[in-house]
Amino acid sequence: MKFIHVTDPHLVPAGQRLFDLDPVARLDACVADINAHHGDADLCVITGDLADRGEAAAYGDFRRCLDRLELPWHLLVGNHDARGTFRRAFPETAVDRDGFVQSVVETAVGDFLLLDTVAEGTHAGAYCPVRAAWLRARLEERRDRDVYLFMHHPPFDLHIPCLDDIGILDKGPIEGAVAGFSHIRHLFFGHAHRPIAGSWRGIPFTTMRGTNHGVPFDLTTRGQVPKSHEPPAYAVAWIDDDRVVVHFHDYLDRTTLVPDGEGFRYLDS
Ligand SMILES: [Fe+2]
Repeated sequence: MKFIHVTDPHLVPAGQRLFDLDPVARLDACVADINAHHGDADLCVITGDLADRGEAAAYGDFRRCLDRLELPWHLLVGNHDARGTFRRAFPETAVDRDGFVQSVVETAVGDFLLLDTVAEGTHAGAYCPVRAAWLRARLEERRDRDVYLFMHHPPFDLHIPCLDDIGILDKGPIEGAVAGFSHIRHLFFGHAHRPIAGSWRGIPFTTMRGTNHGVPFDLTTRGQVPKSHEPPAYAVAWIDDDRVVVHFHDYLDRTTLVPDGEGFRYLDS
């Protein structure tokens, strides 16, 4: 099964710029690239920070972008989103009984658990005991199926201080929720705006740049998170019985050289 992971589009209303970039144009280009090359994917998951300031107008533009995506899509919220405004803009989005944007998406290769790590009023994340109980119950119910976790904030520190300061500050509840399970095959998250891979408590994870700005590889800055114009990316993931393979695709990169006679030429020239 093939699916697409997109994160952190940070939309502002069309016509506005963010960190000297055009988030709507960049998301439009991402959608066009997915449609052109990955129409055979089963679905797309977008792991939060959908709108930079949580504005209704930005969510309206976000829906207009998604209307062009030829795959089913599923949305998570991030620290830049406003949960209430988001839910009014996307009333079809599933929520749990406590109103958190958490749900289960059943796929041919197992169940995708979409988690809500938002703590309103702060950029730091939270996974409170109420949400952790929901997750543990979902994991208990499906011990006989493979499970994949999706969340905005990572549940661990990344060794990048400015991001760790706004990560999930109380890690105990989510660590407790996943403890003792061995059927979680992969964790996909956003928030970092950087390509990072590894494992957490035995669970492999990946994240990558958003579709607008990046976060530089800066190991000293605290406070405001630095931004970069590193190329935007999305991920293409294949899940098979024996492997999960995740490719990061810099979809605006135009430096591919292809053989041309005795030499090479730029693919897009
Ligand atoms: Fe973000």
